[in-house]
Amino acid sequence: MPMPQPYASIRPMPEYAFAYYGNANQIEELFNKNDIHTVIEIGSWIGGGSTRHIGSLLKQRPGTLYAIDTWLGSSTQQPGQEHYQPILKEVYHQFLSNMIHWDLTDVVIPCRMRSLEAIKALNIQPDLIYIDGEHTFDAVMCDMNAWYPLVKKRGILCGDDWTWTSVQDAVISFAESQQLKVIGSDNFWRLQ
Ligand SMILES: C[S@@+](CC[C@H](N)C(=O)[O-])C[C@H]1O[C@@H](n2cnc3c(N)ncnc32)[C@H](O)[C@@H]1O
Repeated sequence: MPMPQPYASIRPMPEYAFAYYGNANQIEELFNKNDIHTVIEIGSWIGGGSTRHIGSLLKQRPGTLYAIDTWLGSSTQQPGQEHYQPILKEVYHQFLSNMIHWDLTDVVIPCRMRSLEAIKALNIQPDLIYIDGEHTFDAVMCDMNAWYPLVKKRGILCGDDWTWTSVQDAVISFAESQQLKVIGSDNFWRLQ
């Protein structure tokens, strides 16, 4: 089968596997206990972490991962900020290249847009939403408010960076407002 767009139109860069990701065990547990075929991920970066792991799990099912990212970096990834990496100027090209190297082009659909634009553009009922975009309190609250209605009835809302105070405050505050329980372990959180 021919490679889908936008992958088919790029000249791949060499693989680069750097990842902001330590949630493999928790994600695998969710996949083992739930019937997960459609996943939305907010924040993919170069794809070396959550995209690669979740994409590989979905490939076995099979399933689809909608990778939503501006590929412009979060506020802490900008030049001069603590998480800046020079790959920022080529991060989308690197992401697409990595998906080709890791044989995930049939599973991962890149959606190059802001999280709040994607909620309007996509008409999908996901089984799981993984939030790892902008990490300010306000941004996490916006993401949760926007995306939670899609999983309210039967899906899972979870995310990264539970150890960040801004993320933890937003997740707890949102959970209280919806009378939900938060399960936080290491860097991972999920609502129940
Ligand atoms: C911490 S990185 C994601 C790391 C990735 N999940 C991993 O496992 O390696 C955060 C990403 O969120 C993206 N991002 C930040 N704000 C966003 C927004 N409002 N909409 C979409 N993507 C956003 C950035 O471009 C960046 O690639």
